[in-house]
Amino acid sequence: MNIPLLDLTKQYQSIKQEIDQAVIHVLEKGSFILGEEVGLLEKEIASLCGASYGIGVNSGTDALLLSLMAYGISREDEVITTPLTFIATAEVIAMLGAKPVFVDINPKTFNIDVEKIEQAITKKTKAIIPVHLYGQMADMDPIMDLAKKYNLIVIEDAAQAILSEYKGKCSGSIGHTGCFSFFPAKNLGAYGDAGMILTNDKDVAERLKMLRNHGSRIKYQHSLLGCNSRLDEIQAAVLRIKARHITKWTQTRRQIANRYNESLADIPWLTIPFEEEWNKCVYNQYTLKVQYRDKFQKHLSEAGIPTAIHYPMPLHLQETFSCLGYKQGDFPESEKACSEVISLPIYPELTDEQRDAVVAGIRSFEL
Ligand SMILES: Cc1ncc(COP(=O)(O)O)c(C=O)c1O
Repeated sequence: MNIPLLDLTKQYQSIKQEIDQAVIHVLEKGSFILGEEVGLLEKEIASLCGASYGIGVNSGTDALLLSLMAYGISREDEVITTPLTFIATAEVIAMLGAKPVFVDINPKTFNIDVEKIEQAITKKTKAIIPVHLYGQMADMDPIMDLAKKYNLIVIEDAAQAILSEYKGKCSGSIGHTGCFSFFPAKNLGAYGDAGMILTNDKDVAERLKMLRNHGSRIKYQHSLLGCNSRLDEIQAAVLRIKARHITKWTQTRRQIANRYNESLADIPWLTIPFEEEWNKCVYNQYTLKVQYRDKFQKHLSEAGIPTAIHYPMPLHLQETFSCLGYKQGDFPESEKACSEVISLPIYPELTDEQRDAVVAGIRSFEL
């Protein structure tokens, strides 16, 4: 049986007519950058997620970068985040000349360990970037409490977590800003790069709109140092169509995750994902912990079951961050996770037969 790790063509086929019409509409109108579609998408996503303002940008990476820029993060500043994430989370901190300061994860949720954040705060700390990894939100209440106590900015990296919830609030709506990636493989994926920032602060929203467009509010007048991070009309039109389906797709992802959980919970050599009772995870990834991960992955690959590792190396051990002076052993839980995690195929179009074949492949593994 053919089981892709992700099947974007199948999703396209299911909404082809709507998508084609929307794209043709943009082509016929002939307005391609920051037009009507972008404005409407910003309003629709902000309202879907319970935030006041949405600012479309051209990637999740830029959503994070511009958020830091909007709060003036620069040289000498420190920003706290997790080492178990995609490079972009810490890359943007370093790109502004600030220092990424890592805090280990809670091994149950894979998210930043809120018990360990306070000891990493110094006089130079300006912000915290919690990452809602795999689609489950970090423990936001203690993070927001610390932010208040130490006057810090909180930028949610919700790249993998659109529509996930923490105590009834949507990802991206709790911090000072929330950042989404619409990379094609995300739960709400464009047909190219795209991203969005949410905020409840009108002034910050205005600043972000300028920053994404060369620091300009009026053409050829530049009051801030910005960049080109505008969102295309075609991507916005595609995303507006997909946004109509995202609630249903999210429910299906959760159903598939539940079925995986039921079928795998009794296997002693693996650990199924743990979802906090106050969280609603949207399963951008369904990630197991397995002791003999590499052997297990080879076994599944031979059985025709594709898997992915998110991530094989924590950020504090990446060559590009060697200048930060971290070493092996500094964040044992993140390092352990990197040797144990493995993600299974999960997407709304995955059939029951495909899911059952994945489970059968897992069950046929012998230690
Ligand atoms: C946790 C996390 N942060 C940031 C990003 C960056 O998003 P983009 O690829 O849209 O720039 C990603 C994308 O994979 C991500 O997973």
